[in-house]
Amino acid sequence: MKPSTLRRKSRALKAAAAAALVFPTACHAATSGNFSILSMNVAGLPAFLNGNDVPGDKATNHKLIGQKFNEYGYDVIHVQEDFNYHAHLYSTNTHPHRTPTSGGVPLGSGLNTLSRHPYLDFRRIKWNTCSNQDSADCLTPKGFTFMRVALATDSSSSSTVYADFYNLHADAGVSSADLVARQDNVRQLAEYITRWSAGNAVVVYGDFNSRYSRGGDTGIRTLLAAGMRDPWVELRRDGRVPAPGEEDACGNPVAGDARCETVDKVFYRSGPLVGLKAREFAYDGLRFLQADGKSVLSDHNPVRVELSWEGSRKLRQSALFGGEGEGAAWFSDAVGLERVDKPRVAVVRFRGASRLDGVGLTLRSGEVFKHGGSGGNEVALTLGEAEYWTEAELCKGEKSGKVRNFYIRAATSAGRTLAAGTRTRDCATFRAPSGWHIVGFVGQDGDEMDQLAFVYAPM
Ligand SMILES: *[C@@H]1O[C@H](CO)[C@@H](O)[C@H](O)[C@H]1NC(C)=O
Repeated sequence: MKPSTLRRKSRALKAAAAAALVFPTACHAATSGNFSILSMNVAGLPAFLNGNDVPGDKATNHKLIGQKFNEYGYDVIHVQEDFNYHAHLYSTNTHPHRTPTSGGVPLGSGLNTLSRHPYLDFRRIKWNTCSNQDSADCLTPKGFTFMRVALATDSSSSSTVYADFYNLHADAGVSSADLVARQDNVRQLAEYITRWSAGNAVVVYGDFNSRYSRGGDTGIRTLLAAGMRDPWVELRRDGRVPAPGEEDACGNPVAGDARCETVDKVFYRSGPLVGLKAREFAYDGLRFLQADGKSVLSDHNPVRVELSWEGSRKLRQSALFGGEGEGAAWFSDAVGLERVDKPRVAVVRFRGASRLDGVGLTLRSGEVFKHGGSGGNEVALTLGEAEYWTEAELCKGEKSGKVRNFYIRAATSAGRTLAAGTRTRDCATFRAPSGWHIVGFVGQDGDEMDQLAFVYAPM
């Protein structure tokens, strides 16, 4: 074989192996599964600024951390303080989906994600408030990151399971200015989740710099009040949140099953499309030791949680298609559909001309879903008594440097179609799983349809 053929073959083999690893069932999307997450502050400030009381050379330590991420098979890892030794961390690590660094000190946020699952729509958001009172939190643009992770998908992307993942590094310190800044950080994050993750399951983990047992750290309590769950509280504390002043701070490292509290926290919630449940909580500090088998690699205990997910029996969705829609708004009909028993579509409506301007539908029960702008021409299809919308095709293209959807075509169980916009050469077809039909949309819109996916319900 010519070397080029060999290379191609080995690339194809690697891709197949990676796909098999991530999605064990290639044809049908799995309806349940497990995944592990790790949150680790890797102490990557330049050594001359902060030695983090960790012995050894930070470059060597980061290489070892990257390697241990592979060794223990974590699915989605969030790191904080991944600043000036980032290249070393990634040099030994083999997770196939990783965020590009935003830079060392003082340019970057230190937040990165290393994942075995593909993700979409990655973005970095800076905190509105910081305080330099106890530590130099305003030195770097700290904040949080967002990404939509595909936990499972079938070979045609007709069925995909997403969860929204947030990484963060909140303001440090215990002065009153720090407490105020940190409360504002968590409030900003919670508001963002409400808006940007409507209809989706959420996992948020990172360095909150917060402890329930510290009286002023009220931010994390508001997350619980808003319906988030903390696996440490659920699995280590029998569901009881520590009272302010009930100090039990962790050493480093501690035993995996220790009950003590750390500032690195995990929160999660289910959505109408997928349920999440934490099965195991562990401190993994003993896995992250230097070559001497004693010294830690970071001044933070890494936190691991094993979660399981289960697809709803009433709603599913396709993969998202189109552009990432910088500046657009997120919408999800799953929120409204969750309240409808056996939804049936009465009328499908599209708007389009040179591109796709809008999509919508009316359910027989009266709900109206409508997305996008008012440009283009409207076309509509009224479904018959025994007719279901079962297939959709989307085509995307680029306009003013932004990718968005240009075309949509719907096909029904009776063989009728409805189309709007202009076809491109970059298209995908989504088919409702056997026995299911299309009843709504999720995606990002503005004046036009940036990104789109279809929500299915059983017939
Ligand atoms: C998830 O993990 C649990 C415990 O190890 C196991 O019993 C279960 O079968 C797993 N579920 C899937 C879908 O792999």
